Amino acid sequence: MDAAAAVLPQHIAIIMDGNGRWAKSRYLPRALGHREGAEAVRRTVTACGELGVPYLTLFAFSSENWKRPADEVDDLMWLLRSYLQREVNELNRQRVRIGFIGERSALAPDLVSLIENAEMQTRQNDRLIFTIAVNYGGQHDIVAAAQRLAREVAAGHMQPDQITPESFAAHLMTTGLPDPDLIIRTSGEQRLSNFMLWQAAYSELIFLDTLWPDFSRQSLEQAIELFNRRERRFGATGES
Ligand code: IPE
Ligand code: IPE
Ligand code: MG
Repeated sequence: MDAAAAVLPQHIAIIMDGNGRWAKSRYLPRALGHREGAEAVRRTVTACGELGVPYLTLFAFSSENWKRPADEVDDLMWLLRSYLQREVNELNRQRVRIGFIGERSALAPDLVSLIENAEMQTRQNDRLIFTIAVNYGGQHDIVAAAQRLAREVAAGHMQPDQITPESFAAHLMTTGLPDPDLIIRTSGEQRLSNFMLWQAAYSELIFLDTLWPDFSRQSLEQAIELFNRRERRFGATGES
């Protein structure tokens, strides 16, 4: 890749997968795979800040992950609490603004408070907009937007034909974020698992075999390099 001509994706979203397999291959409990996964989160946030990527979104817990054993759900929620308790100072030092998407009403009230505090305490930062998707489902995101629009129409505040792709997107949880240019999924699985279904319309999808706890700055740079080899057409011919 010609480094000078390289394009930096403005918004990178990552489906962090493979913590369980990372642990299993070492005969460790899955919880330790998740703990190592949290280290990969720290590395990735720092790397995006240093590379100058302005938006990073990480899929941490899907609306379907409640199907996992209660112990594992607890481990994941405790890990998120500990991340939020420990990391806010470092995020401020790196001028990272943290935000969350996903349905908060199902989360424990103390976790919601930690989330709100972290959002508030980092809201002045502008180097990297870092979004964590927790209890997030793409279908739910779309349905919730449709319900809000339907209520506005029913209340007479809006006409049905004012529902456009733009006004619809403004009602999604990702409002204010550009659509991801690049979606990376680790661990070799090649599916979206209900992540950003609307927003992924023109994202480049890159699947890496690396398990999430092994994800490094080098893995991120590799994905950006692969992204740069893709020709994005957005429906046009590709000839200018
Ligand atoms: C990703 O790793 C973490 C979450 C989905 C919360 P997994 O726990 O899905 O790991 P595998 O897929 O079992 O290896
Ligand atoms: C997707 O991973 C969700 C997150 C990364 C948070 P899963 O491991 O839950 O996905 P499936 O079940 O393999 O599709
Ligand atoms: Mg998985």
